[in-house]
Amino acid sequence: MSGRLDIVGLGPGGPEHRTAAAAAAVSAADVVIGYAPYVEQCADLLHTGHEVVRGAMGQEAARADEALARAAAGARVALVSSGDAGVHGMAARTLARAAELAADERPAIEVVPGVTAALAAGALLGAPLGDDFAALSLSDLHVAWEVVERRLTAVAAAGLALALYNPRSKTRTWQLDRVRDVLREHRDADTPLAVVTDAARPGQDVARATLATLDPETVTMRSLLVVAGDSGRVAGPWLVAERGAGVLA
Ligand SMILES: C[S@@+](CC[C@H](N)C(=O)[O-])C[C@H]1O[C@@H](n2cnc3c(N)ncnc32)[C@H](O)[C@@H]1O
Repeated sequence: MSGRLDIVGLGPGGPEHRTAAAAAAVSAADVVIGYAPYVEQCADLLHTGHEVVRGAMGQEAARADEALARAAAGARVALVSSGDAGVHGMAARTLARAAELAADERPAIEVVPGVTAALAAGALLGAPLGDDFAALSLSDLHVAWEVVERRLTAVAAAGLALALYNPRSKTRTWQLDRVRDVLREHRDADTPLAVVTDAARPGQDVARATLATLDPETVTMRSLLVVAGDSGRVAGPWLVAERGAGVLA
């Protein structure tokens, strides 16, 4: 079987944060498949030899199947995701479906890592993820809200810094108020946090606040919320987390 599938993380935004391996995988592909905004993110790499398949939100399973089928039929396919494809992206779903195929029907597959949004946002803020941290998605699209809240409660109680993906959308608005309430049960009101929107993209915005002053209206589906853990603090213009600082034995 000559086809192959690269599941590519494009990084958070522009080409300057895209790895060379990700660019090479897209450039060498016959077929580039992805959610339309992610395909646009690598528009600078597309050429007339590419077949480009732009998908819609909610069609992730169909996209994974199409990528696998095209690769199994002999094409070199790049399935593109923003950030890292393995972090709240297409990699897990696609690999799970690939695992259901008979070994002789399964194309060669490689996951090409990318810079995830938490790292891009962290770099803009300083080093808020310098000590242990947890990355959670607040989306209850595929996971019941009770599960999201149980996980959030556990990591909030553990004092970890938090990188909160999918914090709010036009239709998911009440959840962030609940998140703030859960965090307030375990963290001081003056715990520093930041809303980082469109990190490494045009319109990039960083809004600093605390648990008490967070305005949910500043948070969109293109935002990542970073909440300091018990070793996190404001140091000059930065948010930093030094391992061992501020943590009781
Ligand atoms: C479906 S997840 C995709 C995450 C992606 N795979 C990654 O590794 O960054 C989408 C969420 O990631 C976050 N996100 C992705 N790119 C971002 C960026 N450039 N700036 C801020 N947040 C971003 C937002 O929380 C958004 O709602």
